[in-house]
Amino acid sequence: MDFARPEFAKSMYPYLEGLLPSRHEAILEMERHAKENRFPAIGPLVGNFVLQQARMIGAKRIFEMGSGFGYSAAWFTQIPDAHVICTDGTPDNRDLAEDYLTRLGVWDRVDFKVGRAQDYLKAELGLFDIIFCDIDKEQYPDAFKLALTKVRVGGLLIFDNVCWSGYAWEDLPANAEPYMHKMTPGVKELNRLCAAIDKIQHAINPTRDGVAVMLKIAE
Ligand SMILES: C[S@@+](CC[C@H](N)C(=O)[O-])C[C@H]1O[C@@H](n2cnc3c(N)ncnc32)[C@H](O)[C@@H]1O
Repeated sequence: MDFARPEFAKSMYPYLEGLLPSRHEAILEMERHAKENRFPAIGPLVGNFVLQQARMIGAKRIFEMGSGFGYSAAWFTQIPDAHVICTDGTPDNRDLAEDYLTRLGVWDRVDFKVGRAQDYLKAELGLFDIIFCDIDKEQYPDAFKLALTKVRVGGLLIFDNVCWSGYAWEDLPANAEPYMHKMTPGVKELNRLCAAIDKIQHAINPTRDGVAVMLKIAE
């Protein structure tokens, strides 16, 4: 997927990636897998960013909505005592995640559930330190409303792709791919909701396709 980027981003992203610490071979392999299969994993800049956010709040209990084959979880599990519940609708992604995350030595702290993320999150009784959401974007507004009830005060909701290749604010061309027509209103509505709700402090990091971080500041 190509994201809307200023011209200088062509050289900026490789430069910024070059400043990242070295990564485990299994993470590098996941990145190659994502690239070869055009799978929209969050990538190392966003991975490093969300890991930093998680460390800053001492996150130990993390729920992922839309884990793909485990790349974002590979970052969250770099916190040694963090436990991550992963969810994804595709059984093959779970198997790939087991392979990669076992090689990374973190699979014993991952509970990977296959099916609809919202159903698993609803069934959880406790609150989470972080709920990370990367599911299909038409589901974002409802996922946000649900996730807000399942994160502790002082915890974070993190939603990926909130700039949505620039179509969060620019008109989508009539000939855009059908999935773009289906998902774009969900991204716009999420961004509107987040800006309007005062029980969160909302900030968007425009790296890659835009990552929204919402700190829950009141019940
Ligand atoms: C953008 S990818 C996730 C990428 C992953 N977070 C990463 O960084 O590698 C979105 C994934 O969410 C899954 N998905 C979409 N809607 C879902 C839902 N409601 N519940 C669970 N998984 C969902 C898709 O099958 C896909 O694998």
